[in-house]
Amino acid sequence: TRVLFATSEVYPLVKTGGLADVSASLPEALCRLNYDVHILLPGYPAAIKTAREAGCRRKCRFRIGQYEVSLWRTQLPGTAVTLWLVDCPPLFERPGNPYQNEKGQDWWDNAHRFELFARVGAMMAMGEAGLNWRPDVVHCNDWQAGLIPVFLEHCPNRPGTVFTIHNLAYQGLFSHETFRALGLPDSLWHWEQLEFHGQLSFIKGGLVFSDRITTVSPGYAREIQTPEFGNGLDGVLRYRQSRLTGILNGIDAEVWDPETDPQLTFHYGPDHLENKARCQAHLQRELGLEVNGGPLLGFIGRLVEQKGVDWLIAVMPELLKRGCQFALLGSGEAGYHEELIKLARQWPDQMSLTLGYDEGLSHRITAGCDLFLMPSRFEPCGLNQMYSLRYGTVPVVHAVGGLSDTVQDPEEAGLIRANGFCFSEASAQALLGAVTRALGYFRSRKQWRRLQENGMAADYSWKQRAHDYSDLYQSILKEREI
Ligand code: ADP
Ligand code: GLC
Repeated sequence: TRVLFATSEVYPLVKTGGLADVSASLPEALCRLNYDVHILLPGYPAAIKTAREAGCRRKCRFRIGQYEVSLWRTQLPGTAVTLWLVDCPPLFERPGNPYQNEKGQDWWDNAHRFELFARVGAMMAMGEAGLNWRPDVVHCNDWQAGLIPVFLEHCPNRPGTVFTIHNLAYQGLFSHETFRALGLPDSLWHWEQLEFHGQLSFIKGGLVFSDRITTVSPGYAREIQTPEFGNGLDGVLRYRQSRLTGILNGIDAEVWDPETDPQLTFHYGPDHLENKARCQAHLQRELGLEVNGGPLLGFIGRLVEQKGVDWLIAVMPELLKRGCQFALLGSGEAGYHEELIKLARQWPDQMSLTLGYDEGLSHRITAGCDLFLMPSRFEPCGLNQMYSLRYGTVPVVHAVGGLSDTVQDPEEAGLIRANGFCFSEASAQALLGAVTRALGYFRSRKQWRRLQENGMAADYSWKQRAHDYSDLYQSILKEREI
């Protein structure tokens, strides 16, 4: 079976969040199940550079409207997965991140950029791009690929379509003028199609027109059908309930393996945890913290409202007073940066703050901490709690979405099965309560060890989970044959 996997990020070429990790590790896992998966990615500078350096050439050229487009064929570094890059310099050859300029503002023409991306996806899907390859299924990810199912809707013999929601809060909303400027048919301007409260919604393209909708955990699949987590789209999702499933993300268990991780100086595993303490001491020295055996609490992520950064900031003074250390890594909204900088100045010996993006440090924090905090307001899946579990670092999470699907609290599951701590109420107080409980367990070496071992023993890889996508693809193909 051939699958075209359309995504706007893929690790290690372009990454702003977990979408990039999943867009690399899922196609690779599917290839191991004998799927012929080709990734389609906009030709951002870093991606084109990699293709050039690998000695790749342009495969074909065509025009779409005013734009000259060409496709590069290369391979996702370190894998056997084919990667197609949509090269259109006026739209994609830009500094900054895939969606925003260096000042953090959305690119003014994002609608045009991802409409063109979707047109190319639809052409490839129909075998019209001049390549000798045509997919059976097109797997579209997040709003950036949302128009692909729209363009395919009326094509005879089109491939099956899957749309995966990685985060419903990002919807690709644009004005009515933009809708007109894109030249989309008027019939699509309707609340049952692409219109959303007077705006054009790219994500509705995926939600309304695809054969199947998935999201990245069973918990989030339930939550997004409620007004509280539905971001205004819960009605559409309830309507399509029978086509919606939640499949838990897997992690790349080779990149995230404490036994072999090249970012670590010391390695360890479930039956020889001694070196984890060495990783901690090493991290404390690297970050200028006292080497004191902890407890060291970690946080890595985008500094935005979703991640509950404000709750974290609210509880930190109390925890610092109790002697906890913090290792924080992230970047995002300026307001959070300022508040965190202030705290770090007040507590220079106990708190380390790294603003920015640092792959290596993210591995060392994951390995070196005792606790990992994820107080997210909502979390479609979340990868960091799974990385932490694998590294014997006990997560403390808000019981939402993929976090509650992966973290079991001793109060609910008993110590025999528990691997972390959860809080249900959406508040800083509840976070503090859960961390306090966790610190109670931390004082008992035996109990802590049990939590760590439970976390490390489980399989978070794609090995099993990729089969769920395989079953899904096959069910669409079967349905389309009939
Ligand atoms: P989201 O996609 O909502 O940002 P996930 O937990 O799914 O959340 O994935 C986030 C990914 O980005 C993880 O791989 C995490 O380690 C990484 N990450 C986030 N911020 C940083 C940072 N500042 N430096 C390094 N890695 C980061
Ligand atoms: C999104 C979500 C995150 C999820 C990731 C990969 O960015 O915020 O929870 O893990 O996508 O699916």
